[in-house]
Amino acid sequence: MLRTLPLHKRHIPASRIALGCMGLGGDWDHQPITAEHIKQGHEAVDAALSIGINMFDHADIYTRGKAEKVFGQIFKDRPELRENIIIQSKCGIRLMEPGDTSNVFDFSGAHILNSVDGILSRLGIEYIDILLLHRPDPLMDPEEVAAALHKLKAAGKVRHFGVSNMSAGQIKLLQAYCDEPFIVNQLHLSLAQISWVDAGISVNREPWKDITFPEGTLEHCRTENIQIQAWGPLAQGLFSGRSLENQPENIVNTAAMVQRIARERGTTPESIVLSWLMTHPAAIQPVIGTVNPLRIAACADADKLELTRKEWYDLYVSSRGQKLP
Ligand SMILES: NC(=O)c1ccc[n+]([C@@H]2O[C@H](COP(=O)([O-])OP(=O)(O)OC[C@H]3O[C@@H](n4cnc5c(N)ncnc54)[C@H](OP(=O)(O)O)[C@@H]3O)[C@@H](O)[C@H]2O)c1
Repeated sequence: MLRTLPLHKRHIPASRIALGCMGLGGDWDHQPITAEHIKQGHEAVDAALSIGINMFDHADIYTRGKAEKVFGQIFKDRPELRENIIIQSKCGIRLMEPGDTSNVFDFSGAHILNSVDGILSRLGIEYIDILLLHRPDPLMDPEEVAAALHKLKAAGKVRHFGVSNMSAGQIKLLQAYCDEPFIVNQLHLSLAQISWVDAGISVNREPWKDITFPEGTLEHCRTENIQIQAWGPLAQGLFSGRSLENQPENIVNTAAMVQRIARERGTTPESIVLSWLMTHPAAIQPVIGTVNPLRIAACADADKLELTRKEWYDLYVSSRGQKLP
C-alpha cells in the first residue's frame, strides 16, 4: 500500500520523492556559475521530471548560493516550470567566512528575513512554497522567529513553513509561538543511518549503540501530520555501487543484500534503498541528492515497490549488524 504523504493531506501535491539540489553549482566557493553547471541543472531537472518528481529542495547555503543561482537560470530558460513544481528552501545556517572559526546557526529575525530575500533573488521567483529552518539555533527566541515568519507569510514570500534536524520538543516550542503550522521536518534517515528505528525498539532495554535520534520525534511528526523528509536517503551510494573499501562488515553485507533483493525484484539497488524508507508507515519522503541523470532514473521504481515485512527486517537487521531481541 503506497502511503499518502502528509503534504497531500494539506493539499500540497508533492511527489513521493523530492530532488535535493545541494549538488548543483559545483564547489562551495565564490566562483561564478558556469554554462556547464546550468547544463547539469537542466539535465537533473529533466531526469527528475521524467520519473514524476515535482518537488525540489534547496538551501540558501548550498554551494554558497550557486545551487539556487543555477535553478534561477533554469526558471529563466523555462518560465512555465515555476507553477508546475514545488520549491522548498532553507535558512538559518551562516557559513564560515575567512576569519570565522566555524559555521554558526542564526534564527534571528533579521537573518531569516535577509535569507529569504536572497533565496528569492537567486531563484528569480516571487515566492517559495516551503521554507525550512535548517538546524536548531540554541540562541533562538521563538517569539522573534514567529514574527519573522509572520512577515514572510504576510508579504507573500513564503507559503508554508517547516523545520529540519529538529526534535519533537524543539518543534513544540516553536509551534507554541507561531500561528502557521510547521508542516515538514527534514531529518537524516537512511538504511545506513538507522538510529530512528533503533530508538523505537530500545525502549525499556539496555541502550543499543549510540542512539542519536531524539525520542518521540517520529511519533510527534506522525500525530501532527508533519511531513517527515529524509536527507541522505541514498546513503551516498553505499548500497548502490559506491566503493565499499574500508567499510564495516554490516555495510558490506547489507550492500550485497540490497543487490540480491534488487535482482529478485527486477529493479535497481537505488529503488530498493529508497523503498526501505518508503515502506515504513510514516510516509517518509526521501530527498535524493544525486544530480546524475542515470542515478535519478534508477530511483524510478521506489514509489511503486513495497518491501515485504521479511525484506524490510532483513535489511534493517543486516545494517544494524546485530539480531533483534
Ligand atoms: N537538512 C539538512 O540538514 C540536509 C543535509 C544534507 C543534505 N540535505 C538535502 O538532502 C539531499 C540529499 O542529501 P545527500 O546528497 O547527502 O544524500 P544522498 O541522496 O544519500 O546522496 C547523494 C550523493 O551521493 C552520491 N552518490 C549516490 N550514489 C552514488 C554511487 N553509486 N556512487 C558514487 N556516488 C554516489 C551522489 O553523487 P552524484 O550526484 O554524482 O550521483 C551525491 O553526491 C541534498 O541534496 C539536500 O537537498 C539536507
